[in-house]
Formats: sequence, structure tokens, C-alpha cells
Amino acid sequence: MPVTLVGTLVDGRVNFMTVGWISRVNGNPPYVCIGINKNHYTVKGIIDNKGFSVNFPSVEMMEETDYCGIVSGRKEDKSKLFEVFYGKFENAPMIKKCSLNLECGLVETLELPTHYLFVGEILEAYSEERYLTDGRLDIEKMKPLLLTMPDNSYWTVGNYKGAAREIGLKLKDKKDIKLQHSIGSRYGEMDFSLDQEGKPHIHLTEEGIREQNRGKKGSKDIHIKEEYW
Ligand SMILES: Cc1cc2nc3c(=O)[nH]c(=O)nc-3n(C[C@H](O)[C@H](O)[C@H](O)COP(=O)(O)O)c2cc1C
Repeated sequence: MPVTLVGTLVDGRVNFMTVGWISRVNGNPPYVCIGINKNHYTVKGIIDNKGFSVNFPSVEMMEETDYCGIVSGRKEDKSKLFEVFYGKFENAPMIKKCSLNLECGLVETLELPTHYLFVGEILEAYSEERYLTDGRLDIEKMKPLLLTMPDNSYWTVGNYKGAAREIGLKLKDKKDIKLQHSIGSRYGEMDFSLDQEGKPHIHLTEEGIREQNRGKKGSKDIHIKEEYW
């Protein structure tokens, strides 16, 4: 997951907290959601101001980013850590040094057992020429920080691997492919095929069915439908 810094004004003071639980969740208007523990100082800032900012730090900002994730604004003043700027929405401080800043207005709050899921509409996005290639954000120039859990490790982006929504078209064009996949010890082998309409189906091979039905009567095909897409 990407590592971000969520900016708020809490009782008028600038505060940033580190957030890994973030996702884009709506196309138009563009929404992002963040999962924030109910005890965090940031919560008050988001609720009072009905908004927040999302800032993408680069690898060079790893120390400050980690600091914002281990120290609460309730105990320490984090307002002097970064040079900030404001956009249209005056209550969402943004970090100049970050490659991308999203200014978000709060549109929905879902109260979950331990966290609030805040959904924000991206009102404006800010970046600089030096992070762009042909007018688009370039991940190699942004050098974003990535996080894995539960090992709590920071990573950088690896190599480019292929064009999303294109590379799979190779399979779509073939009506009768049969690929053998090993799907682990639980189910044994499976067959992958496309039907006449080009929809993918995954069937257990005889070996797989035997494996799955060990100790059971009858047999079953596995059809991968919506969850495949
Ligand atoms: C890498 C990293 C990612 C984090 N992601 C989240 C997160 O997604 N949601 C959350 O509630 N806390 C997350 N935390 C913890 C908060 O950032 C941390 O408790 C912070 O001190 C809260 O700041 P505040 O009290 O000033 O709001 C993360 C911490 C780190 C180090």
C-alpha cells in the first residue's frame, strides 16, 4: 500500500499523521477513503473541518513520515515539520515537499468498530512539473514510499512490468486456451478456459476434483465469475 501523510487543522494547529490505509473509491466525482483509528488526534480535525489533505511523501522523506506515524499531535507539536501551503479549501494544510497533494472535502463518515472510514472528494490535486512526464504523474520521479504489513516495512517501487488493461487482452482473443495451473496442495490442479463469449472459467481437473472431494461425496466445478474481474 502507498504511504501517505494526512493533513488537518486540529483546534487551529497544523497536524500530519501517517496513513497506509487509503484507496480511491469512486470515479466521478473522484473519492478517496482513509481508515483512521478513532483515538487519533487527526479525527477531530477531519470532523470539525469536514475535510483533510492527502500528501504523498517520497523515499527521501521516510524519517519524517515515520515520525508522524509514531507520535501523536495530542502529545507533540508536528506543525513545524514541513513547509505547508493551502489551496481552495482553507482547512486542509498540504506539504510542499510532497510530490502529490490531494485536497479533500469530507463526504461520508462510516463508523467501524475501531476505525472511522472517511470518504473524501478530491477537490483539487497539486503536483510539480518535475514529477511529470508528458503531463502525467511519473511514479519513477515521485519515488513514493510503500508499506507492507504485518512486517511494517517500507519499500520503493520496483520495475515496470506491463500495461494494465492491455496485457490480459492476449488471453481474451484466444477462444480455446487451456492452461494448467497448480493451485496448491489444497485443490491440486485446475484448468483455465474461455467459453464462446470469451468469459473465463476455472475448472478443477480430475486430479483437482479428487483432491477436493477427498472424504466427500459428489464433485463440483469452480466457476470464477465476478471476482475474477
Ligand atoms: C507507516 C504507518 C502507517 C500508518 N497507517 C495508519 C492508518 O492507515 N490508519 C491509522 O489509523 N493509523 C495509521 N498509522 C498510525 C498513526 O499514523 C499514528 O498513530 C499517529 O501518531 C497518529 O497521529 P495523530 O494522533 O497526530 O493523529 C500508521 C503509522 C505508520 C508508521
